[in-house]
Amino acid sequence: LPDNPLDLVIFGGVGDLSVRKLLPALYMAHLHNNLPEQTHIHALGRQGWDRAAFLHFIQEKVPAFIEPKAYNDQTWATFLRRLTYLCIDATEPGDFPELRAHLQPGSDRVYYLATAPSLFVGICANLHGAELIDERSRVVLEKPLGHDLASARQINDDVGQYFEEHQVFRIDHYLGKETVQNLMVLRFGNSIFEPLWRAPTIKSVQITVAESVGVGSRAGFYDGTGAMRDMVQNHLLQLLCIVAMEPPVSLDPDAVRDEKLKVLRSLRPMLAADVARDTVRGQYTAGASAGEVAIGYLQEENIPPESTTETFVALKAYINNWRWANVPIFLRTGKRLAERRSEIIIEFADQPFSIFNESPHKSVNRLQIRLQPEESIQLQLMAKEPGSGMRLRPVGLNLDLQSAFTERRAEAYERLLIDVIKGRLTHFMRRDELEAAWAWVEPIIQGWEQLGDKPKPYTAGSWGPAASSALMAREGSSWVEES
Ligand code: BG6
Repeated sequence: LPDNPLDLVIFGGVGDLSVRKLLPALYMAHLHNNLPEQTHIHALGRQGWDRAAFLHFIQEKVPAFIEPKAYNDQTWATFLRRLTYLCIDATEPGDFPELRAHLQPGSDRVYYLATAPSLFVGICANLHGAELIDERSRVVLEKPLGHDLASARQINDDVGQYFEEHQVFRIDHYLGKETVQNLMVLRFGNSIFEPLWRAPTIKSVQITVAESVGVGSRAGFYDGTGAMRDMVQNHLLQLLCIVAMEPPVSLDPDAVRDEKLKVLRSLRPMLAADVARDTVRGQYTAGASAGEVAIGYLQEENIPPESTTETFVALKAYINNWRWANVPIFLRTGKRLAERRSEIIIEFADQPFSIFNESPHKSVNRLQIRLQPEESIQLQLMAKEPGSGMRLRPVGLNLDLQSAFTERRAEAYERLLIDVIKGRLTHFMRRDELEAAWAWVEPIIQGWEQLGDKPKPYTAGSWGPAASSALMAREGSSWVEES
């Protein structure tokens, strides 16, 4: 850990993200001695609170998001000593000298922008104006990083006026998940998979990020965003990059990000006809999810009754390079699906010829990497059914990572915040990556607009619209739970 004092300044410091993720993650880092000794955390907001009112708010809200077995009053009390609240209007240059007065002399500074992106440029300009940025300062940008390519570029340009690229940490919290990082180890820390990790040995890839929750209290944000921008543009494409990239020459941030960028740039652009054929948008209707009655998206509070925002996307993509030519890559995400499950399925090719005439099965060789809720890796192999004759059945070779490792697993935000503090950029998106992801996604969204595409209804608690299965069936595939 750096020896220098650290000032961590959270714009949007009493907002939802801060309460649910950032402060609990910082508490955990504090508990495990992963913060530099002189770390001060400044939560910025616009409520005219004194310290007592702030502490009351924090006390009411934050502990609920800390794992019960990690919470204890004593550590919490020492954590609170690191925290200050500052009532600062981020758009008001005149407020910044007060921030300056609270920072430790000669400290490292991390500015976490957990605000609407429209405020980013003003915040950066005001920090600059108050001489609060030096070469050791870092800025963390929370999503949504743009609404389309032009707005993403604008954010990058705006922030880039005040911070060098190596000072900018664009968060995609999926990159902080243990299993996502483990995927790199699976691919590049083992020698057995790499020779197989390509066409034609791999027949198809499926990436699913399914959620059982609905839109919840985020209607205002979500209805103007939709699943494509909220999940596919960032989390799913980042997962795809790690699955598909070439071995980086090292774990250096740019070595890894160069390879991810190449994947994004190799994605086959979707023309209008591809959008019509190879993408599915859905919107949930009333049903039941995770054992509870669930209302439909259009009945959710603050959702306009005629909204055509998608809560589900499935699509087929291709990567135009030697390794992946003509391998269909299926991406799928949605809210109010049958269960919370994120997984990556690598489907290997059928055996070229079967000598087992008695067996109705084609070979099922599939690597199933489960990211959540539990972390596991399973390899499906064909085995002989006991008994006379030679009948085959797929069985799983299972690795349960939770029982293989008993160590504590940090939450994504904790791990990423520690990376920011240590100045490690490997698990953050570089400017060109973000823009390349938008450059691929934008024509799909435009295609939907041109086609006047209406999302297909699906019942809450199902696996999405029937068209999503049909998309797979056309390639002779099926989503794993349907196979
Ligand atoms: C966020 C999205 O980025 O990721 C949310 O904005 C989504 O809509 C969340 O629910 C999912 O994250 P996780 O870690 O719960 O899979």
